[in-house]
Amino acid sequence: CAMAEPESASPIESAEHASVEIAELCSLIRNADDAYFRKDDPILSDAEYDSSKRRLRELEAIFPELKAEDSPTGSVGARPSEGFAKATHQLPMLSLDNAFGEADVREFDAKVRRFLGWGADDSLEYVAEPKIDGLSISLTYETGRLSRAATRGDGVTGEDVTRNVMTIGDVPRSLDGAPAFLEIRGEVFMSHSDFADLNQRQEEEGAKPYMNPRNAAAGSLRQLDPEITRARRLKFYAHGLGKVSDNLSATQLEVMDRLKSMGLPINDRASKCADVDQLMAYFDILESQRSQLPYDIDGAVYKVNDLALQARLGSSSTAPRWAVSAKFPAETAWTTLRDIEIQVGRTGALSPVARLDPVNVGGVIVSNATLHNEDYIAGLGSDGSPIRDGKDLRVGDWVQVYRAGDVIPKVADVDIDRRPEDAVQFEFPNACPVCGSEARREGNDAVRRCVGEFTCSAQRVEKLKHFVSRNAFNIEGLGDKLIEQFHSEDLVSEPGDIFKLRGRLEQGDERLAERHGWGERSASKLFDEIDAAREVSLDRVIFGLGIRHVGEGVSERLALQFGSWDEFAMAVDGAGDKSGDVWSELVAIEGIGDRIASSLIDAFQDERVRAAVDRLVAELDIRPAERPQTEDSPISGLTVVFTGTLEAMTRAEAKVRAEALGARISGSVSGKTDLVVAGPGSGSK
Ligand code: IVH
Repeated sequence: CAMAEPESASPIESAEHASVEIAELCSLIRNADDAYFRKDDPILSDAEYDSSKRRLRELEAIFPELKAEDSPTGSVGARPSEGFAKATHQLPMLSLDNAFGEADVREFDAKVRRFLGWGADDSLEYVAEPKIDGLSISLTYETGRLSRAATRGDGVTGEDVTRNVMTIGDVPRSLDGAPAFLEIRGEVFMSHSDFADLNQRQEEEGAKPYMNPRNAAAGSLRQLDPEITRARRLKFYAHGLGKVSDNLSATQLEVMDRLKSMGLPINDRASKCADVDQLMAYFDILESQRSQLPYDIDGAVYKVNDLALQARLGSSSTAPRWAVSAKFPAETAWTTLRDIEIQVGRTGALSPVARLDPVNVGGVIVSNATLHNEDYIAGLGSDGSPIRDGKDLRVGDWVQVYRAGDVIPKVADVDIDRRPEDAVQFEFPNACPVCGSEARREGNDAVRRCVGEFTCSAQRVEKLKHFVSRNAFNIEGLGDKLIEQFHSEDLVSEPGDIFKLRGRLEQGDERLAERHGWGERSASKLFDEIDAAREVSLDRVIFGLGIRHVGEGVSERLALQFGSWDEFAMAVDGAGDKSGDVWSELVAIEGIGDRIASSLIDAFQDERVRAAVDRLVAELDIRPAERPQTEDSPISGLTVVFTGTLEAMTRAEAKVRAEALGARISGSVSGKTDLVVAGPGSGSK
């Protein structure tokens, strides 16, 4: 390791050597940070830690282009996350769907119209606003006084940062003329000049500079000492509402005016747009002004102006249907493709990853990028037609990398003229690089998959990582490294084993009791966290199983439909016969088709899977699915089928509204159907 003697490091011969050393130092320091701050269990002495950091800073000063955006020299240092109380949002804090380019914006507009049942000529007003590149915050005002401020967190639960937000001059402690309960959603950010001042001070004090204003704002807000937050001069813009006791107005723009009159800061670049052409014109103007703005923006947000329409459109589980974010175009750069590595995912998918000479792509150093699948490398699109004019990608090639927003960087193009003479076509493996099982492509699937399933350690480990991940069981202390170690030591080979770890330690299991560098404190903290995860909602259990095609949205629907684990498992166990009622009931659930149902059934029919699932469930206390905020109504709990053309609204809207009233929606009539709403043309249903 380049770190053996960091003090007397050898002179750097080239950027290539430096980039290797920088990557090694970054990973060493990150692991050390993690061990120190999160696990209370240092792996480096203070002197080793300091000299590693000094060496990294030195290299980054010589090769600024090699500095990673998330370099530990620029990080906030102590992760204060454990110092804040949790704050559960009254209404979830959602994200926004992205539109890249005019076609996507037109599709957004068309989708809104389809949902509402409107034609292309009906006039539909939008508001366009800058998308502030800061961090989302929710402010609650009760009887006009600021009572709570919370970060977004996972959208459902964030961190209570009230004391810190109270120090932000832009955020009023009290509002004039506010309703009894008012939740404001907005963005905390740092201006360019304050960012520059802060970094200058950091440097003078020998502290790490921040990478960009957003990181600086996030780091400044999440300080355990609110006085530090105060000194950072954060700014705030309100951009919308959460829960409110009284409606403020009829449109987005008027609401913003009301908030302004109450004393909240509002961005003054919001503009009414009558159609997509005007949205596109707004975007061009905003982009041309971007560099002159005193703060960072990463695009525009388009919102339906009429709040009654916003309410009708509602939200999917992740984003409102009435808004979209239009990001500035992707940044690109050229570099050398050094290697193509194959990673094996939790469902056995073999994913090729490009290892690149590190390159600066719009301010972020990129050294890995996705290559999607074997066809993509060969120059074929998902429909089999040529992409990049059919040019394939080879190790040694000069390739174009791009990244848009926070998405994983991709390799877009290749310059054949610069191809080394000895470059050979990439041969995609037909065996799993981890377990050696056959890797097969089935049907039209562009993805080659390892058939090893449970015998493949990569699939098992990835399934475990998925199981503990944020949106599944959310066991934070059980990071990737620890999962890998526990798995390789045979301590954990399936999810249920995680819940047996404490018992094993108590019984004196040597692998745990004598674990090197495993403090008593960190162990008991982890086991407490694992025990807390036993109480879990049904949708998270279903999602946590990591069954192919069964994502978060699908898991939520299944949980709502079946209510309890027993009902759910009984249905999947009994649905094997495709001509039976249970199968029809399963595929009648909105959003669950043949593909998803078959995938579930296949998984449950595999005896090893089923037994492992049962062992897991025996460890858990599964909460029934909570219907999100439904109104009490005569159709609560009833199963409703809509068919034919509806006259007052589209079927999509009718379904969403019935769901909000507590109904279950089904796509076809079965023994469980309570109501059928049939419009003209409903046929035989
Ligand atoms: S409206 C999702 N308006 O972007 C609920 N969001 O990518 C509606 N953001 O979490 C959000 N500027 O924190 C809205 N003018 C703006 C915004 C904005 C920045 C953030 C927001 C949200 C994120 C989604």
